[in-house]
Amino acid sequence: MSNAEKNRAAPPVVIVIFGAAGDLTKRKLIPALFNLASKQLLPERIAMVGTDRIDMDSESYRDTLSREIGDYVGKGFSREMWDANVKRAYYLKGDFLDADSYVRLKEFLQQVDREQETTGNYLFYLATPPSFFGEIATRLGTVGLAEESGDRWRRIIIEKPFGRDLDSARSLNRVLHESFQEHQIYRIDHYLGKETVQNIMTYRFGNGTIEPIWNHRYIDHVQITVAETLGVEDRAGYYEESGALRDMVANHLMAVLSIIAMEPSNSFDADAIRDEQTKVLKAIQPFGPEQVLTDAVRGQYGEGVLKDGRHLHAYRDEPGVAGDSPVETFAALKLKLDTWRWAGVPFYLRTGKRMSKRCTEVVIQYRHAPNMIFSKSRLKRVDIEPNRLFLRLQPDEGISMEFNAKVPGTGLDISPVRMDFDYDDYFEESTIASGYETLIYDCICGDATLFKRADNIEVCWELLQPILDVWGALPARSFPNYPACSSGPSQADELLARDGRKWLTLGP
Ligand code: BG6
Repeated sequence: MSNAEKNRAAPPVVIVIFGAAGDLTKRKLIPALFNLASKQLLPERIAMVGTDRIDMDSESYRDTLSREIGDYVGKGFSREMWDANVKRAYYLKGDFLDADSYVRLKEFLQQVDREQETTGNYLFYLATPPSFFGEIATRLGTVGLAEESGDRWRRIIIEKPFGRDLDSARSLNRVLHESFQEHQIYRIDHYLGKETVQNIMTYRFGNGTIEPIWNHRYIDHVQITVAETLGVEDRAGYYEESGALRDMVANHLMAVLSIIAMEPSNSFDADAIRDEQTKVLKAIQPFGPEQVLTDAVRGQYGEGVLKDGRHLHAYRDEPGVAGDSPVETFAALKLKLDTWRWAGVPFYLRTGKRMSKRCTEVVIQYRHAPNMIFSKSRLKRVDIEPNRLFLRLQPDEGISMEFNAKVPGTGLDISPVRMDFDYDDYFEESTIASGYETLIYDCICGDATLFKRADNIEVCWELLQPILDVWGALPARSFPNYPACSSGPSQADELLARDGRKWLTLGP
């Protein structure tokens, strides 16, 4: 469905945000709703009800949002547009664990429905700490707020992290399914909302020349890097319980991997696509304890110095972090997929905080040409770089192909050159939207393609569980093992060096 078609079809809705006073709401959700309103992508009959424990009324909530919104929307902000829309925001004080709060919420929503003519369609957005997800869903069910009837729908968006291991993810799925049916549950992974991540599918399946060489016959290996310069910031409470494997690999990196590796689906239907993604994740060879020791690397940042001389704290010196914290801020994995397409093609994944550069990138390294006709000259195969495709997901969005060219001159010198596509050169539409715009919009339209299904989440945890177990049982002795502002621990370089390869982004 095109955006224009979806927009015409977008039904009236009340978006109920649990955790209305939290960081995610002010940094991502309200700006995303504003951006959607600016692009006229919201239905005409729409309202937003924020609920949280803080004592406020709708008037003071609107004032708070109005004061802060300019800081988070950036250059597309229009005060006039904001003022025209803010009256659709309401606030209801409530305790997520208190039964009466849900009775009051139900009455409040009926009142909003009458005022804004929103016809009883509700989208519940759980922007709360994960420990509340199950409780909120159950209590919504108890007061009848999860019930659909006729055309009237009820949907629930669950933020990440979805569980902290296989058991907790399974039990959260069970609890959700007691009140909501699977088609009502939208598990969010904001990476799937990113334009550049979605474009991988268009690139692969919308071009006749790409897919025929997207397999083990032509591809040597794949690298997926999600590097951040940020440290743990003010999220130590969450991060100390999480770490890089849970925070990034279990969701964002696996999401990118599944789009790179999936088979083409027979249609663009949400379930057809998610079937293929789950299938390929299931084909990843499971880790035994031995493989964890050889094919999974963890790291934690120590102190470091920025180019301008500023000193960066070690993770263990960050506020709220234990002085002997065993939590990893870096993870790298080597994965092998048991499929016809990917036999013998390793996938190397890595993510880390406090790296030298912010960079989310997929590199496809192709095999060498089968017969080196230049061998009579002094060039040997090893001197010629293989072709590489760089899918630049952020921040410098685009696609680059690196291939070899003859250096002009009388001799035969060969040098890699790059052919670049940059989003900015072709499209007016900004690609810096956070991903939340697309996802909220799709949920209102009932399109679950970019959301995770229960089985997809559980497959990821199944794969990572042995790593969590081994790392939990054997705390790393070498932490911290990489300086802040670097490319990560040397063990991650060794992971590839053992296979005669090297990481191709971020530099040494
Ligand atoms: C979040 C993680 O899901 O993704 C954060 O919890 C991380 O730790 C963030 O910083 C990265 O997202 P993005 O869109 O900035 O790459």
